[in-house]
Amino acid sequence: MTNTTPSPREQLSRQLAEAVAEALRVDLARQDNALLVVSGGSTPVPFFEALATCELPWERVQVTLADERWVPEDAVDSNARLVRAHLLQGPAALATFVPLTTDNPTPEQGAEAVAERINGLAWPASVVILGMGGDGHTASLFPDSRELELALTTGAATVAVRTPSQPQPRITLSADRLHQAHRHLLHITGGDKRAVLARALSGDDVRELPIRAFLACPLATYWAP
Ligand code: 6PG
Repeated sequence: MTNTTPSPREQLSRQLAEAVAEALRVDLARQDNALLVVSGGSTPVPFFEALATCELPWERVQVTLADERWVPEDAVDSNARLVRAHLLQGPAALATFVPLTTDNPTPEQGAEAVAERINGLAWPASVVILGMGGDGHTASLFPDSRELELALTTGAATVAVRTPSQPQPRITLSADRLHQAHRHLLHITGGDKRAVLARALSGDDVRELPIRAFLACPLATYWAP
């Protein structure tokens, strides 16, 4: 007899998928299209797979990313690859996916091209789902980085990120764009992150813990060890 009890992360992913599907249904009852902004990394994979099984008019759902690494879409650490492999499957393959991957010669030119590409989506997003790294980063807004200041203050939709803490450049949606949503959901896993989240909730400067920039939003937090 195999153990079929879902893990806390699997239970959380199912719970989050049902909440996101319901939010999309509510918005699709009053508008033609609904935009879902998702984050990358490893946490979202079971959530993507759970959401892909939800009943939705997927042809009216738009999906884009909160950030992307400066890698080709078939690279193992591409967030676009993650979305295509785990979310855009079955009926969910009908969704309109707008990746942040570009073949521009520099991340800066790529960020400009991506901004134009995503500006035509159904903003404000129905849901923005943000993860958090152990250093308190979210999307590609990294602590004490040169680009963090720009990403927190610019009116542009995207910012190119070249930070020494990361192996490759990235493109991230700016704080201004990530704030343009009806709902913000935090999806965080890892016992080590609980203390970081508690620190972010109780104080500390946004430059030390960029996730703080989004804690004032109407927010639900989905956390599992
Ligand atoms: C990315 C994500 C990033 C992620 C955190 C947490 O591209 O990596 O957008 O902000 O949410 O790094 O990642 P995990 O949940 O996989 O630890």
